[in-house]
Amino acid sequence: MTKYMEYFGFKTTPFPTTIAPKNLLKLPDMIGIKERLDYTLNLGGIMLVTGEVGSGKSTALRWAMSHYHPNELTTVEVVSNSASLNELYKQLCWALNLDVNSGSRSLLSRMIKNAIRDLVVGKKQKVLLVIDEANLLRIDVFAELHTLTQFNHDTVSPFAIALVGQTTLADKLTYRSSSPLASRVVAKTHLKSITKDQMQEYLHHHLKIAGVKKSLFGDDAVTAIHQGSSGLLREANNLARGGMIAAAAEGCELVGAEHIRIASTELII
Ligand SMILES: Nc1ncnc2c1ncn2[C@@H]1O[C@H](COP(=O)(O)OP(=O)(O)OP(=O)(O)O)[C@@H](O)[C@H]1O
Ligand SMILES: [Mg+2]
Repeated sequence: MTKYMEYFGFKTTPFPTTIAPKNLLKLPDMIGIKERLDYTLNLGGIMLVTGEVGSGKSTALRWAMSHYHPNELTTVEVVSNSASLNELYKQLCWALNLDVNSGSRSLLSRMIKNAIRDLVVGKKQKVLLVIDEANLLRIDVFAELHTLTQFNHDTVSPFAIALVGQTTLADKLTYRSSSPLASRVVAKTHLKSITKDQMQEYLHHHLKIAGVKKSLFGDDAVTAIHQGSSGLLREANNLARGGMIAAAAEGCELVGAEHIRIASTELII
């Protein structure tokens, strides 16, 4: 399965899972996320980043955060699940390097707030809590999460929370019990599927960062990838890589729609 790399002359694996921020293609939605991050960090509050699976949410937010020096911004990142608020608080404590394994909700909440206060007041840093896959959070967690943003006195400069997740995240915020949290949302972005022209640019960009300057995808292949992936990036990666494997196996120098079709039979989309 890796013979295609030699066949096409790749220097590194094309379409990787993680890409250095400087190597990312600047898609229009990414600029919007950066602007909203800046706004939310200055104002304090919550920003929402939603989109379909594999639309590039986590990558776009990581790119936006990379514009800040670590001395300027502390990011506290957790990947949520369907566990209780206590579990989420524990995850946040661990991400903040606080040594806790047990404790009441109020104790954990106090520890998190103290740590944030130390960073914001003591170290004069901006703080961003990133809760990825936030669509998985339980409704009762949504109902209480806003309490984390409430400090006893006003001396603490605002800090920000980024809730990142699939489209259902926005739906969960419309529940009546979520309204205290929803009312603290100051900015939101929904990542759209990319267009066919953007797909062409996206595919060529990935080939280039993996060391191949030549255009390997015929126009029919680009259309097939765009349609097969519905313009979503991770699916496009899988179809493009699979298409190259199929083309290399047949000794073709150009990937065509038929190769993408063969690739799609290996994928669960
Ligand atoms: N701007 C970009 N330039 C190049 N590749 C990108 C870019 N954004 C995303 N990708 C590619 O798309 C893949 C999917 O992106 P990402 O993991 O950020 O999506 P996601 O929306 O967070 O997915 P999930 O819904 O599973 O959490 C990445 O692994 C990366 O290969
Ligand atoms: Mg993600």
